[in-house]
Amino acid sequence: MHLHQSGTGPDTILFVHGYPFHGGMWAPQLEALPEGWRGLAPDLPGFGRSPRGGSDLSMEAQADALAALLDEHGVGRAVVCGLSMGGYVAFALWRRHRERVRALVLADTRAGADTAEAVAHRRSLATRFREQGPESAVEALLPGLTGPETQEHRPEVVARIREMIAATPVETLAAAQEAMARRPDSTPLLATIDVPTLVVVGEHDAIRPDAQAMALAIPGARFEVISEAGHVSNLENATAFNRAVAGVLVTTRG
Ligand code: MLT
Repeated sequence: MHLHQSGTGPDTILFVHGYPFHGGMWAPQLEALPEGWRGLAPDLPGFGRSPRGGSDLSMEAQADALAALLDEHGVGRAVVCGLSMGGYVAFALWRRHRERVRALVLADTRAGADTAEAVAHRRSLATRFREQGPESAVEALLPGLTGPETQEHRPEVVARIREMIAATPVETLAAAQEAMARRPDSTPLLATIDVPTLVVVGEHDAIRPDAQAMALAIPGARFEVISEAGHVSNLENATAFNRAVAGVLVTTRG
């Protein structure tokens, strides 16, 4: 897997990107890691510069690839920070490799499976992306991703998000929609999470309005709203996002 990384030290945070982005979306977090922390932000198989390598892009396959990455880097347990699809993958890691998870940051994500309507929508998006290419994904996805402050005052963030969508291979754009439609319901897992957990959501995240209910179902989880941000809260308000993550790192060191 192609890896974006920073820092050295005994403690590791693994960043898991959303759809259809890549590990480069975590640049503002990798630049701001506290002393003693190593940050690993891979491009998941099929995304960014990582080859798909026969993966079905399921959340389980992505989680297994991440566990193998931790092995490769000699990391036993890591704080796992996943945004949106990255959160679905974090749930699959918890389901399959929970001994590797020291703490969780669940950003702009949800535990529930898709409704029948959402599955149908994903199927029609997959068909459209295959037929019309990456610009159709920019058209379909970009408008709902960011909040009003980002749209009005942070054109560079919108441009960066657009660039990541347009650079994603068409087959990944389509197959990852199908894989997300197949993901299992992770709601029953929430009560089993017994590591420090922070749930964050952008103030204007229209895609994940139910994040607080998810936080309430995780024993002891903290919940924070990232102001002036939509769905891509780590890029839209990196300062607030980093402050929230730093709070988790301080309590999970060592
Ligand atoms: C993401 O940002 O990863 C997507 O919104 C996930 C999804 O389509 O459910």
